[in-house]
Amino acid sequence: LTSELVGRLGAEAVSAIDPSDAFVAATRIRFPGVDVRRASAERLPFSEEVFDFALAQLVVHFMRDPVAGLRDMARVTRGGGVVAACVWDHAGGRGPLTVFWRAVLDLDPHARDESQLAGAREGHLAELFAAAGLRDIESTMLTVQTRFRSFEEWWEPFTLGVGPAGDYVQGLDTQRRLELRDRCASLLPRQGPVGIAASAWATIGRTH
Ligand SMILES: C[S@@+](CC[C@H](N)C(=O)[O-])C[C@H]1O[C@@H](n2cnc3c(N)ncnc32)[C@H](O)[C@@H]1O
Repeated sequence: LTSELVGRLGAEAVSAIDPSDAFVAATRIRFPGVDVRRASAERLPFSEEVFDFALAQLVVHFMRDPVAGLRDMARVTRGGGVVAACVWDHAGGRGPLTVFWRAVLDLDPHARDESQLAGAREGHLAELFAAAGLRDIESTMLTVQTRFRSFEEWWEPFTLGVGPAGDYVQGLDTQRRLELRDRCASLLPRQGPVGIAASAWATIGRTH
């Protein structure tokens, strides 16, 4: 998201926050001119009404209190400005991790996937925006094509311990990790590139 905004607006016009040290460090290295701070959406380190818009790309489902996070995004946005967010359609089975979680649930029916997370089902982001006091709320679905050169390239990020999927893989012993990898492979092309269409629910609203 920061990369896209810097490309459109220039680094001086962009501020970014993330509670993860690794994300903050990586963003500072890539965009030295951007004001990057370590913080959560629920407690933004900015004054009232300093931005034209506040955006959260694939973040609302990780917030401890999504309504508080959206409300604080609205607080730092000028009157009549835009708050926008998107979350993968985990509940509708159209996210980039759908194949992964399907394989997990085949082997471990009691595992917790990401389908219950905030904003990950149709209409829920709009409900959260309304609860946060935003107006003129509109929602749509955005779809991107992801492409990997091979199954191995698709699988490798799951072994890095990032996000709920990475945490799940790290909690498995070697045997169960191999079983999960094989199950995923059985659901995807064994030879050649892997292409996955991934969709996210996207909602915008305006501040008062
Ligand atoms: C899938 S990444 C998206 C990163 C970035 N927005 C992008 O567009 O690439 C999700 C990010 O949400 C961050 N996150 C988790 N809880 C958060 C919170 N309460 N407020 C803000 N960010 C949070 C995580 O640290 C992680 O970097």
